Amino acid sequence: MTTTAPDPAASTTTHGPAASTATHEQATAHEQAAATALPTQRRISAEIAAAHEAAGRDPVRSPHPPRDFAPYRSSALRHPRLPPVRVPADPEAAELYGPVFGRTDVTDLDADLTRQHTGEPLGERITVAGRVLDRAGRPVAGQLVEIWQANASGRYAHQRDQHPAPLDPHFTGVGRCLTDRQGAYRFTTVKPGAYPWRNHENAWRPAHIHFSLFGTAFTQRLVTQMYFPGDPLFPYDPILQSVTDPAARERLVATYDHGLSTPEWSLGYRWDIVLDGPAATLPDPEEDR
Ligand SMILES: [Fe+2]
Repeated sequence: MTTTAPDPAASTTTHGPAASTATHEQATAHEQAAATALPTQRRISAEIAAAHEAAGRDPVRSPHPPRDFAPYRSSALRHPRLPPVRVPADPEAAELYGPVFGRTDVTDLDADLTRQHTGEPLGERITVAGRVLDRAGRPVAGQLVEIWQANASGRYAHQRDQHPAPLDPHFTGVGRCLTDRQGAYRFTTVKPGAYPWRNHENAWRPAHIHFSLFGTAFTQRLVTQMYFPGDPLFPYDPILQSVTDPAARERLVATYDHGLSTPEWSLGYRWDIVLDGPAATLPDPEEDR
């Protein structure tokens, strides 16, 4: 195709009829690559801006993100399209098939992700603490809080994560604890790194920790993510930006708490989780990690 700019690297070696064929093949390859190319960050950012603008005009705007947020590409294919299945007889029967756990199943060691192996993991050691509250601000005690995260290099200890950042033999990246009577939880871990993903060209997730709150039954589970303050990747991330309400987005970001930092040991981040009501912590639209 004469309208396709030649590859600069090839242009110095393509001359005559044979070169014309080579150029044509290269151009065709470029066209095929363009057809299957990931969208650019510019396009994704424009889609995010349009979605935010539309949400801002909606008089009945919900703080909850749409389940099929187009800039987050895979959500278009895997969001629920049908209403939840009704359990006709005994809704509580569903709990008979759910996992169960008891207080003795969760130990203090489970909340320290830096002590699960024979050595210290690499990275910036942090304490993440907060409270689980209901809509009235009352503490929710006895909640199973589970976390999972990438290591300091931005790599998950998971076979699906093959991006070329180092694994850390001293870090698995999973932990859990139960909230105490004041609804408080506390983890010791390392700050996760940002990592690339294939939503679009040059897509990077801001550093985050995945949280699951179990309640007292399987059907009460809330899955969400905690972010770190001041991350420059926030505006580029369609998962965080799928929460179109700026105030609701802000509630997903932890606060640096110098009083929670431990001298010579760790930096402190505080993040409270509100289970419902106007100040609720929103669920996580990301479901494949
Ligand atoms: Fe993640």
